[in-house]
Amino acid sequence: MRIRPRRNRANSSVRGMVRETRISLEQLVYPLFLLEDRNAVQPILSMPGISRFGLEKLMVEVDECMNAGVTNFILFPAVDEKYKDKYASYSLDASNFYLTAIRELKKRFPEAIFISDVALDPYSSDGHDGLVIDNQIVNDETLPILSAMAVAQAEAGFDIIGPSDMMDGRVGEIRDALDDQGFVNVGIMSYTAKYASAFYGPFREALDSAPKSGDKKTYQMDYANSKEALREAELDEEEGADFLMVKPALCYLDVIRDLSNYSSLPIAAYNVSGEYAMLKAAAERGWIDYDKAMPEMLTSIARSGASVILTYFAKEYAQKFHSRS
Ligand code: PBG
Repeated sequence: MRIRPRRNRANSSVRGMVRETRISLEQLVYPLFLLEDRNAVQPILSMPGISRFGLEKLMVEVDECMNAGVTNFILFPAVDEKYKDKYASYSLDASNFYLTAIRELKKRFPEAIFISDVALDPYSSDGHDGLVIDNQIVNDETLPILSAMAVAQAEAGFDIIGPSDMMDGRVGEIRDALDDQGFVNVGIMSYTAKYASAFYGPFREALDSAPKSGDKKTYQMDYANSKEALREAELDEEEGADFLMVKPALCYLDVIRDLSNYSSLPIAAYNVSGEYAMLKAAAERGWIDYDKAMPEMLTSIARSGASVILTYFAKEYAQKFHSRS
């Protein structure tokens, strides 16, 4: 036998030499859940290790992440029912706790990157990402609300706007609105192929943002489809997106691969709450070796073509596997 693939696996040095994929902390984005009460901390039961934080506590969390080498964050507000209405109007209030927080965060951590969330659901009494009229999630009437939300977030200091709503045409509308207001350097990370997925369950618990009626299948994608993801990608590119995101990640590695083959834009993958919860639960029962499975998961997402990975594992991954001392 002349050809023996095992030669390149013979020891850890040669394995390191030929390794194709490495996770760098620079590519990770850590999701954070923000509470209004500045000193509050509320652990999320279905996501062990993840909590909702008031701003003071969130600052400590961000500081710890920065020290561990994680410098990118995506911020979600957990909004009290009393602020919710049909139009998600609280999202546009410049003095709401989400926009107040980003001003303070950017002042304290100017070198960190903060990505916003654009969608109605955290602020909507209907719990849908778009405006609900006569039980329909209406597309075009939602767009001005999304654009106004994006402008308010750019004004407050977000570096990148993250439309997670899946309305048609929103990336172009948001790009135009940002440019009109002079925010030409604020980027858009579009949730391009966001699937109607059971893996968002723990996140909806974290934000109390589950739809009050119906499901999200008229705007989020059918998990049986991959060509449709290319169609969404084409539109987002034309409309001016700076990143294309696939969400969730682990059941959708083929879609990540398709998009990274298709597009010259950076591909982001959102390793979602349910994917995190599954591994944590199995690890708690001793059914899986967490320290081995977690980097395997992250590496598989990178290997499939994602250059940016949004993951609840980010902080722990950095602390366990990239010790800086
Ligand atoms: C909603 C939104 C969701 C997530 C991010 N933004 C949930 C949904 O569409 O219902 C899910 C993130 C996760 O599960 O980690 N705009």
